[in-house]
Amino acid sequence: MCEEKKTFYITTPIYYPSTSLHIGNAYTTVAADAIARFKRLSGYDVMFLTGTDEHGQKIQRIAEENGVKPKEYVDKVVDGIKELWQLMNISYDKFIRTTDDSHIKAVQEIFVKLYQNGDIYKGSYEGAYCTPCESFWTDTQLLDGKCPDCGRNVEKAKEEAYFFKMSKYAERLLQYIEANPSFIQPESRKNEMINNFLKPGLQDLCVSRTSFNWGIPVEFDKSHVVYVWIDALSNYITALGYGSENTKLYERYWPADVHLIGKDILRFHTIYWPIMLMALELPLPKQIFGHGWLLVDGGKMSKSKGNVVDPVILSKHFGVDSIRYYLLREIPFGSDGTFTNETFIKKINSDLANDLGNLVSRTVAMIEKYFDGVIPAPIATETIDNELIRLALDTPELVEKSLDDLKLSEALSHIWTLIGRCNKYIDETTPWILAKDEDQKERLGTVLYNLAEALRIISVLISPFLPDTSDKIREQLGVEICTWDSVASFDGISAGTKVKKGNIIFPRIDVEEKLKELEALKVDDNIQKEEAPLKPIKPEITIEDFEKVDLRIAKVLECEAIKGAKKLLKLKVDLGGETRQVISGIAKHYKPEDLVGKSVVLVANLKPAKLRGELSEGMILAASNDDDSILYVIDAPSELKVGNEIR
Ligand code: ME8
Ligand code: MG
Repeated sequence: MCEEKKTFYITTPIYYPSTSLHIGNAYTTVAADAIARFKRLSGYDVMFLTGTDEHGQKIQRIAEENGVKPKEYVDKVVDGIKELWQLMNISYDKFIRTTDDSHIKAVQEIFVKLYQNGDIYKGSYEGAYCTPCESFWTDTQLLDGKCPDCGRNVEKAKEEAYFFKMSKYAERLLQYIEANPSFIQPESRKNEMINNFLKPGLQDLCVSRTSFNWGIPVEFDKSHVVYVWIDALSNYITALGYGSENTKLYERYWPADVHLIGKDILRFHTIYWPIMLMALELPLPKQIFGHGWLLVDGGKMSKSKGNVVDPVILSKHFGVDSIRYYLLREIPFGSDGTFTNETFIKKINSDLANDLGNLVSRTVAMIEKYFDGVIPAPIATETIDNELIRLALDTPELVEKSLDDLKLSEALSHIWTLIGRCNKYIDETTPWILAKDEDQKERLGTVLYNLAEALRIISVLISPFLPDTSDKIREQLGVEICTWDSVASFDGISAGTKVKKGNIIFPRIDVEEKLKELEALKVDDNIQKEEAPLKPIKPEITIEDFEKVDLRIAKVLECEAIKGAKKLLKLKVDLGGETRQVISGIAKHYKPEDLVGKSVVLVANLKPAKLRGELSEGMILAASNDDDSILYVIDAPSELKVGNEIR
């Protein structure tokens, strides 16, 4: 009889191919990869899905700026993403692109179905829209009139749109979440979703747009494209063939065991996605796990903010397994972690070079030196061996338990406890002293056997996390087999096996020197930035268009900070006949006293607007580089009178 394997379906988010990915994105995927590899190792039939989320206004704009069609643009970026995953040793089983024909067709069907059920209706949307984040915000959600996520300017937008009636399913979802305690993990995130979103009442979700066309057309209303979340979230089932002729994978793997995501998209996965599935009458995923962020310089790493760390560069300098180790070890279960080059290098030196690397090279070197490279038989055991052997045999279960709870960092720390125990065992047994005494030959052989065998178990245990290192260790030990069954007993290596000394698996890094080297790379980056191509010139305007803009010379009379608005300054400017109050987002670059007395250029006929409750009558011209790291208010010649026109 042939026993059916248990299945395990794990997904990462599908990434926006807007620019290259950063180490924060790699975190999600590396974590999912480690879990997928572990499940395969422990006997599951695994489906590990990742992919790209390719539609939307932002992609359309970037493509336009680059002078190519959106599809051409995403094709190139997606190639790069796939290369990155290959480099990072990501063992995905399927890569979905939301531009795949089968996905498009299935999403269209899903939309029609929801519409026919009466879950989707036509209405109109009015709000503030943040293009980089692809999010609509209500006025109360905005911070200083800007996007609460990224702090950039938002645009007012109103358009006809389809809406999903979320509220209809809210009660059912609440009951489901309460009846299934492990549905949303970690626990704290669950309470946040319930108290901040579900209990106050769900707003209907905007699910189509007409202001751009890079998206999946709504089949029965072609001026609309399906707007982001129905398109994106559906990937988890369309990738399995849902909505196509061949639904074999869907039947085999759905519902998913885990959707692994960052906490920023938890709301979409724990509220909108289950509700969509309820409306489609499909089973809900078993668990949604929102992990923490990888922070750099104290802030979230993000493509829209520009403070990214490039995994390709890091892997060239430190190797892929060092990155994988750091990501999985340094971010504890569910919370945030920090990335700095210095802590990264120090961790490599202590955990990988010292603890693991030394253990491997010492063990293999001693077997070569004392036994001509042939692993001896363990025939002279002593009680001191038992502690090591027991720990080696207990560790797999501890690792499995931690991984079942998705506590990756904890799983690694169990393995490192065993590594530490091995190193201590060397100090306790002092093989180099045993080697001096011919009568101790059997005892020495036993010690070295135990070390080799413990290392073999370690190599199996680390294989989901550090696959290349795992292989290298077994290569040096002369062992091939890497199965979960093989770690259940402490006799996997046969005496007589020939070891093969290899390169040092993690060379020690000179911290100071490496930091300098990396610092130099940053300078290179800046040079490259300055040579970046010119932003495309905006479409032509006529002289009449230009004359509509009334630019005047003005002088700053007073200037003060605005309480609670870190970016804004409140200025009083003299315009000749009148004074104006202007609110300007330049507080990061100017202190109030720097500006008083300065002659500036004012857009005098700009429609007044309120920012943070303060009236702003006009705008002061300033110039900045692309990421706003440098900004100058444009000086007006002080010999000219205030109120003079600029043409
Ligand atoms: O959100 N640390 O895509 P995305 C940890 N297309 N994780 C981070 C991170 C950081 N600094 N920065 C980003 C999207 N991430 C959508 C998803 S799913 C149906 C659609 C994580 O490319 C982030 O939390 O902006 C998210 O889980 C993932 O990277 C993809 O981000
Ligand atoms: Mg994002």
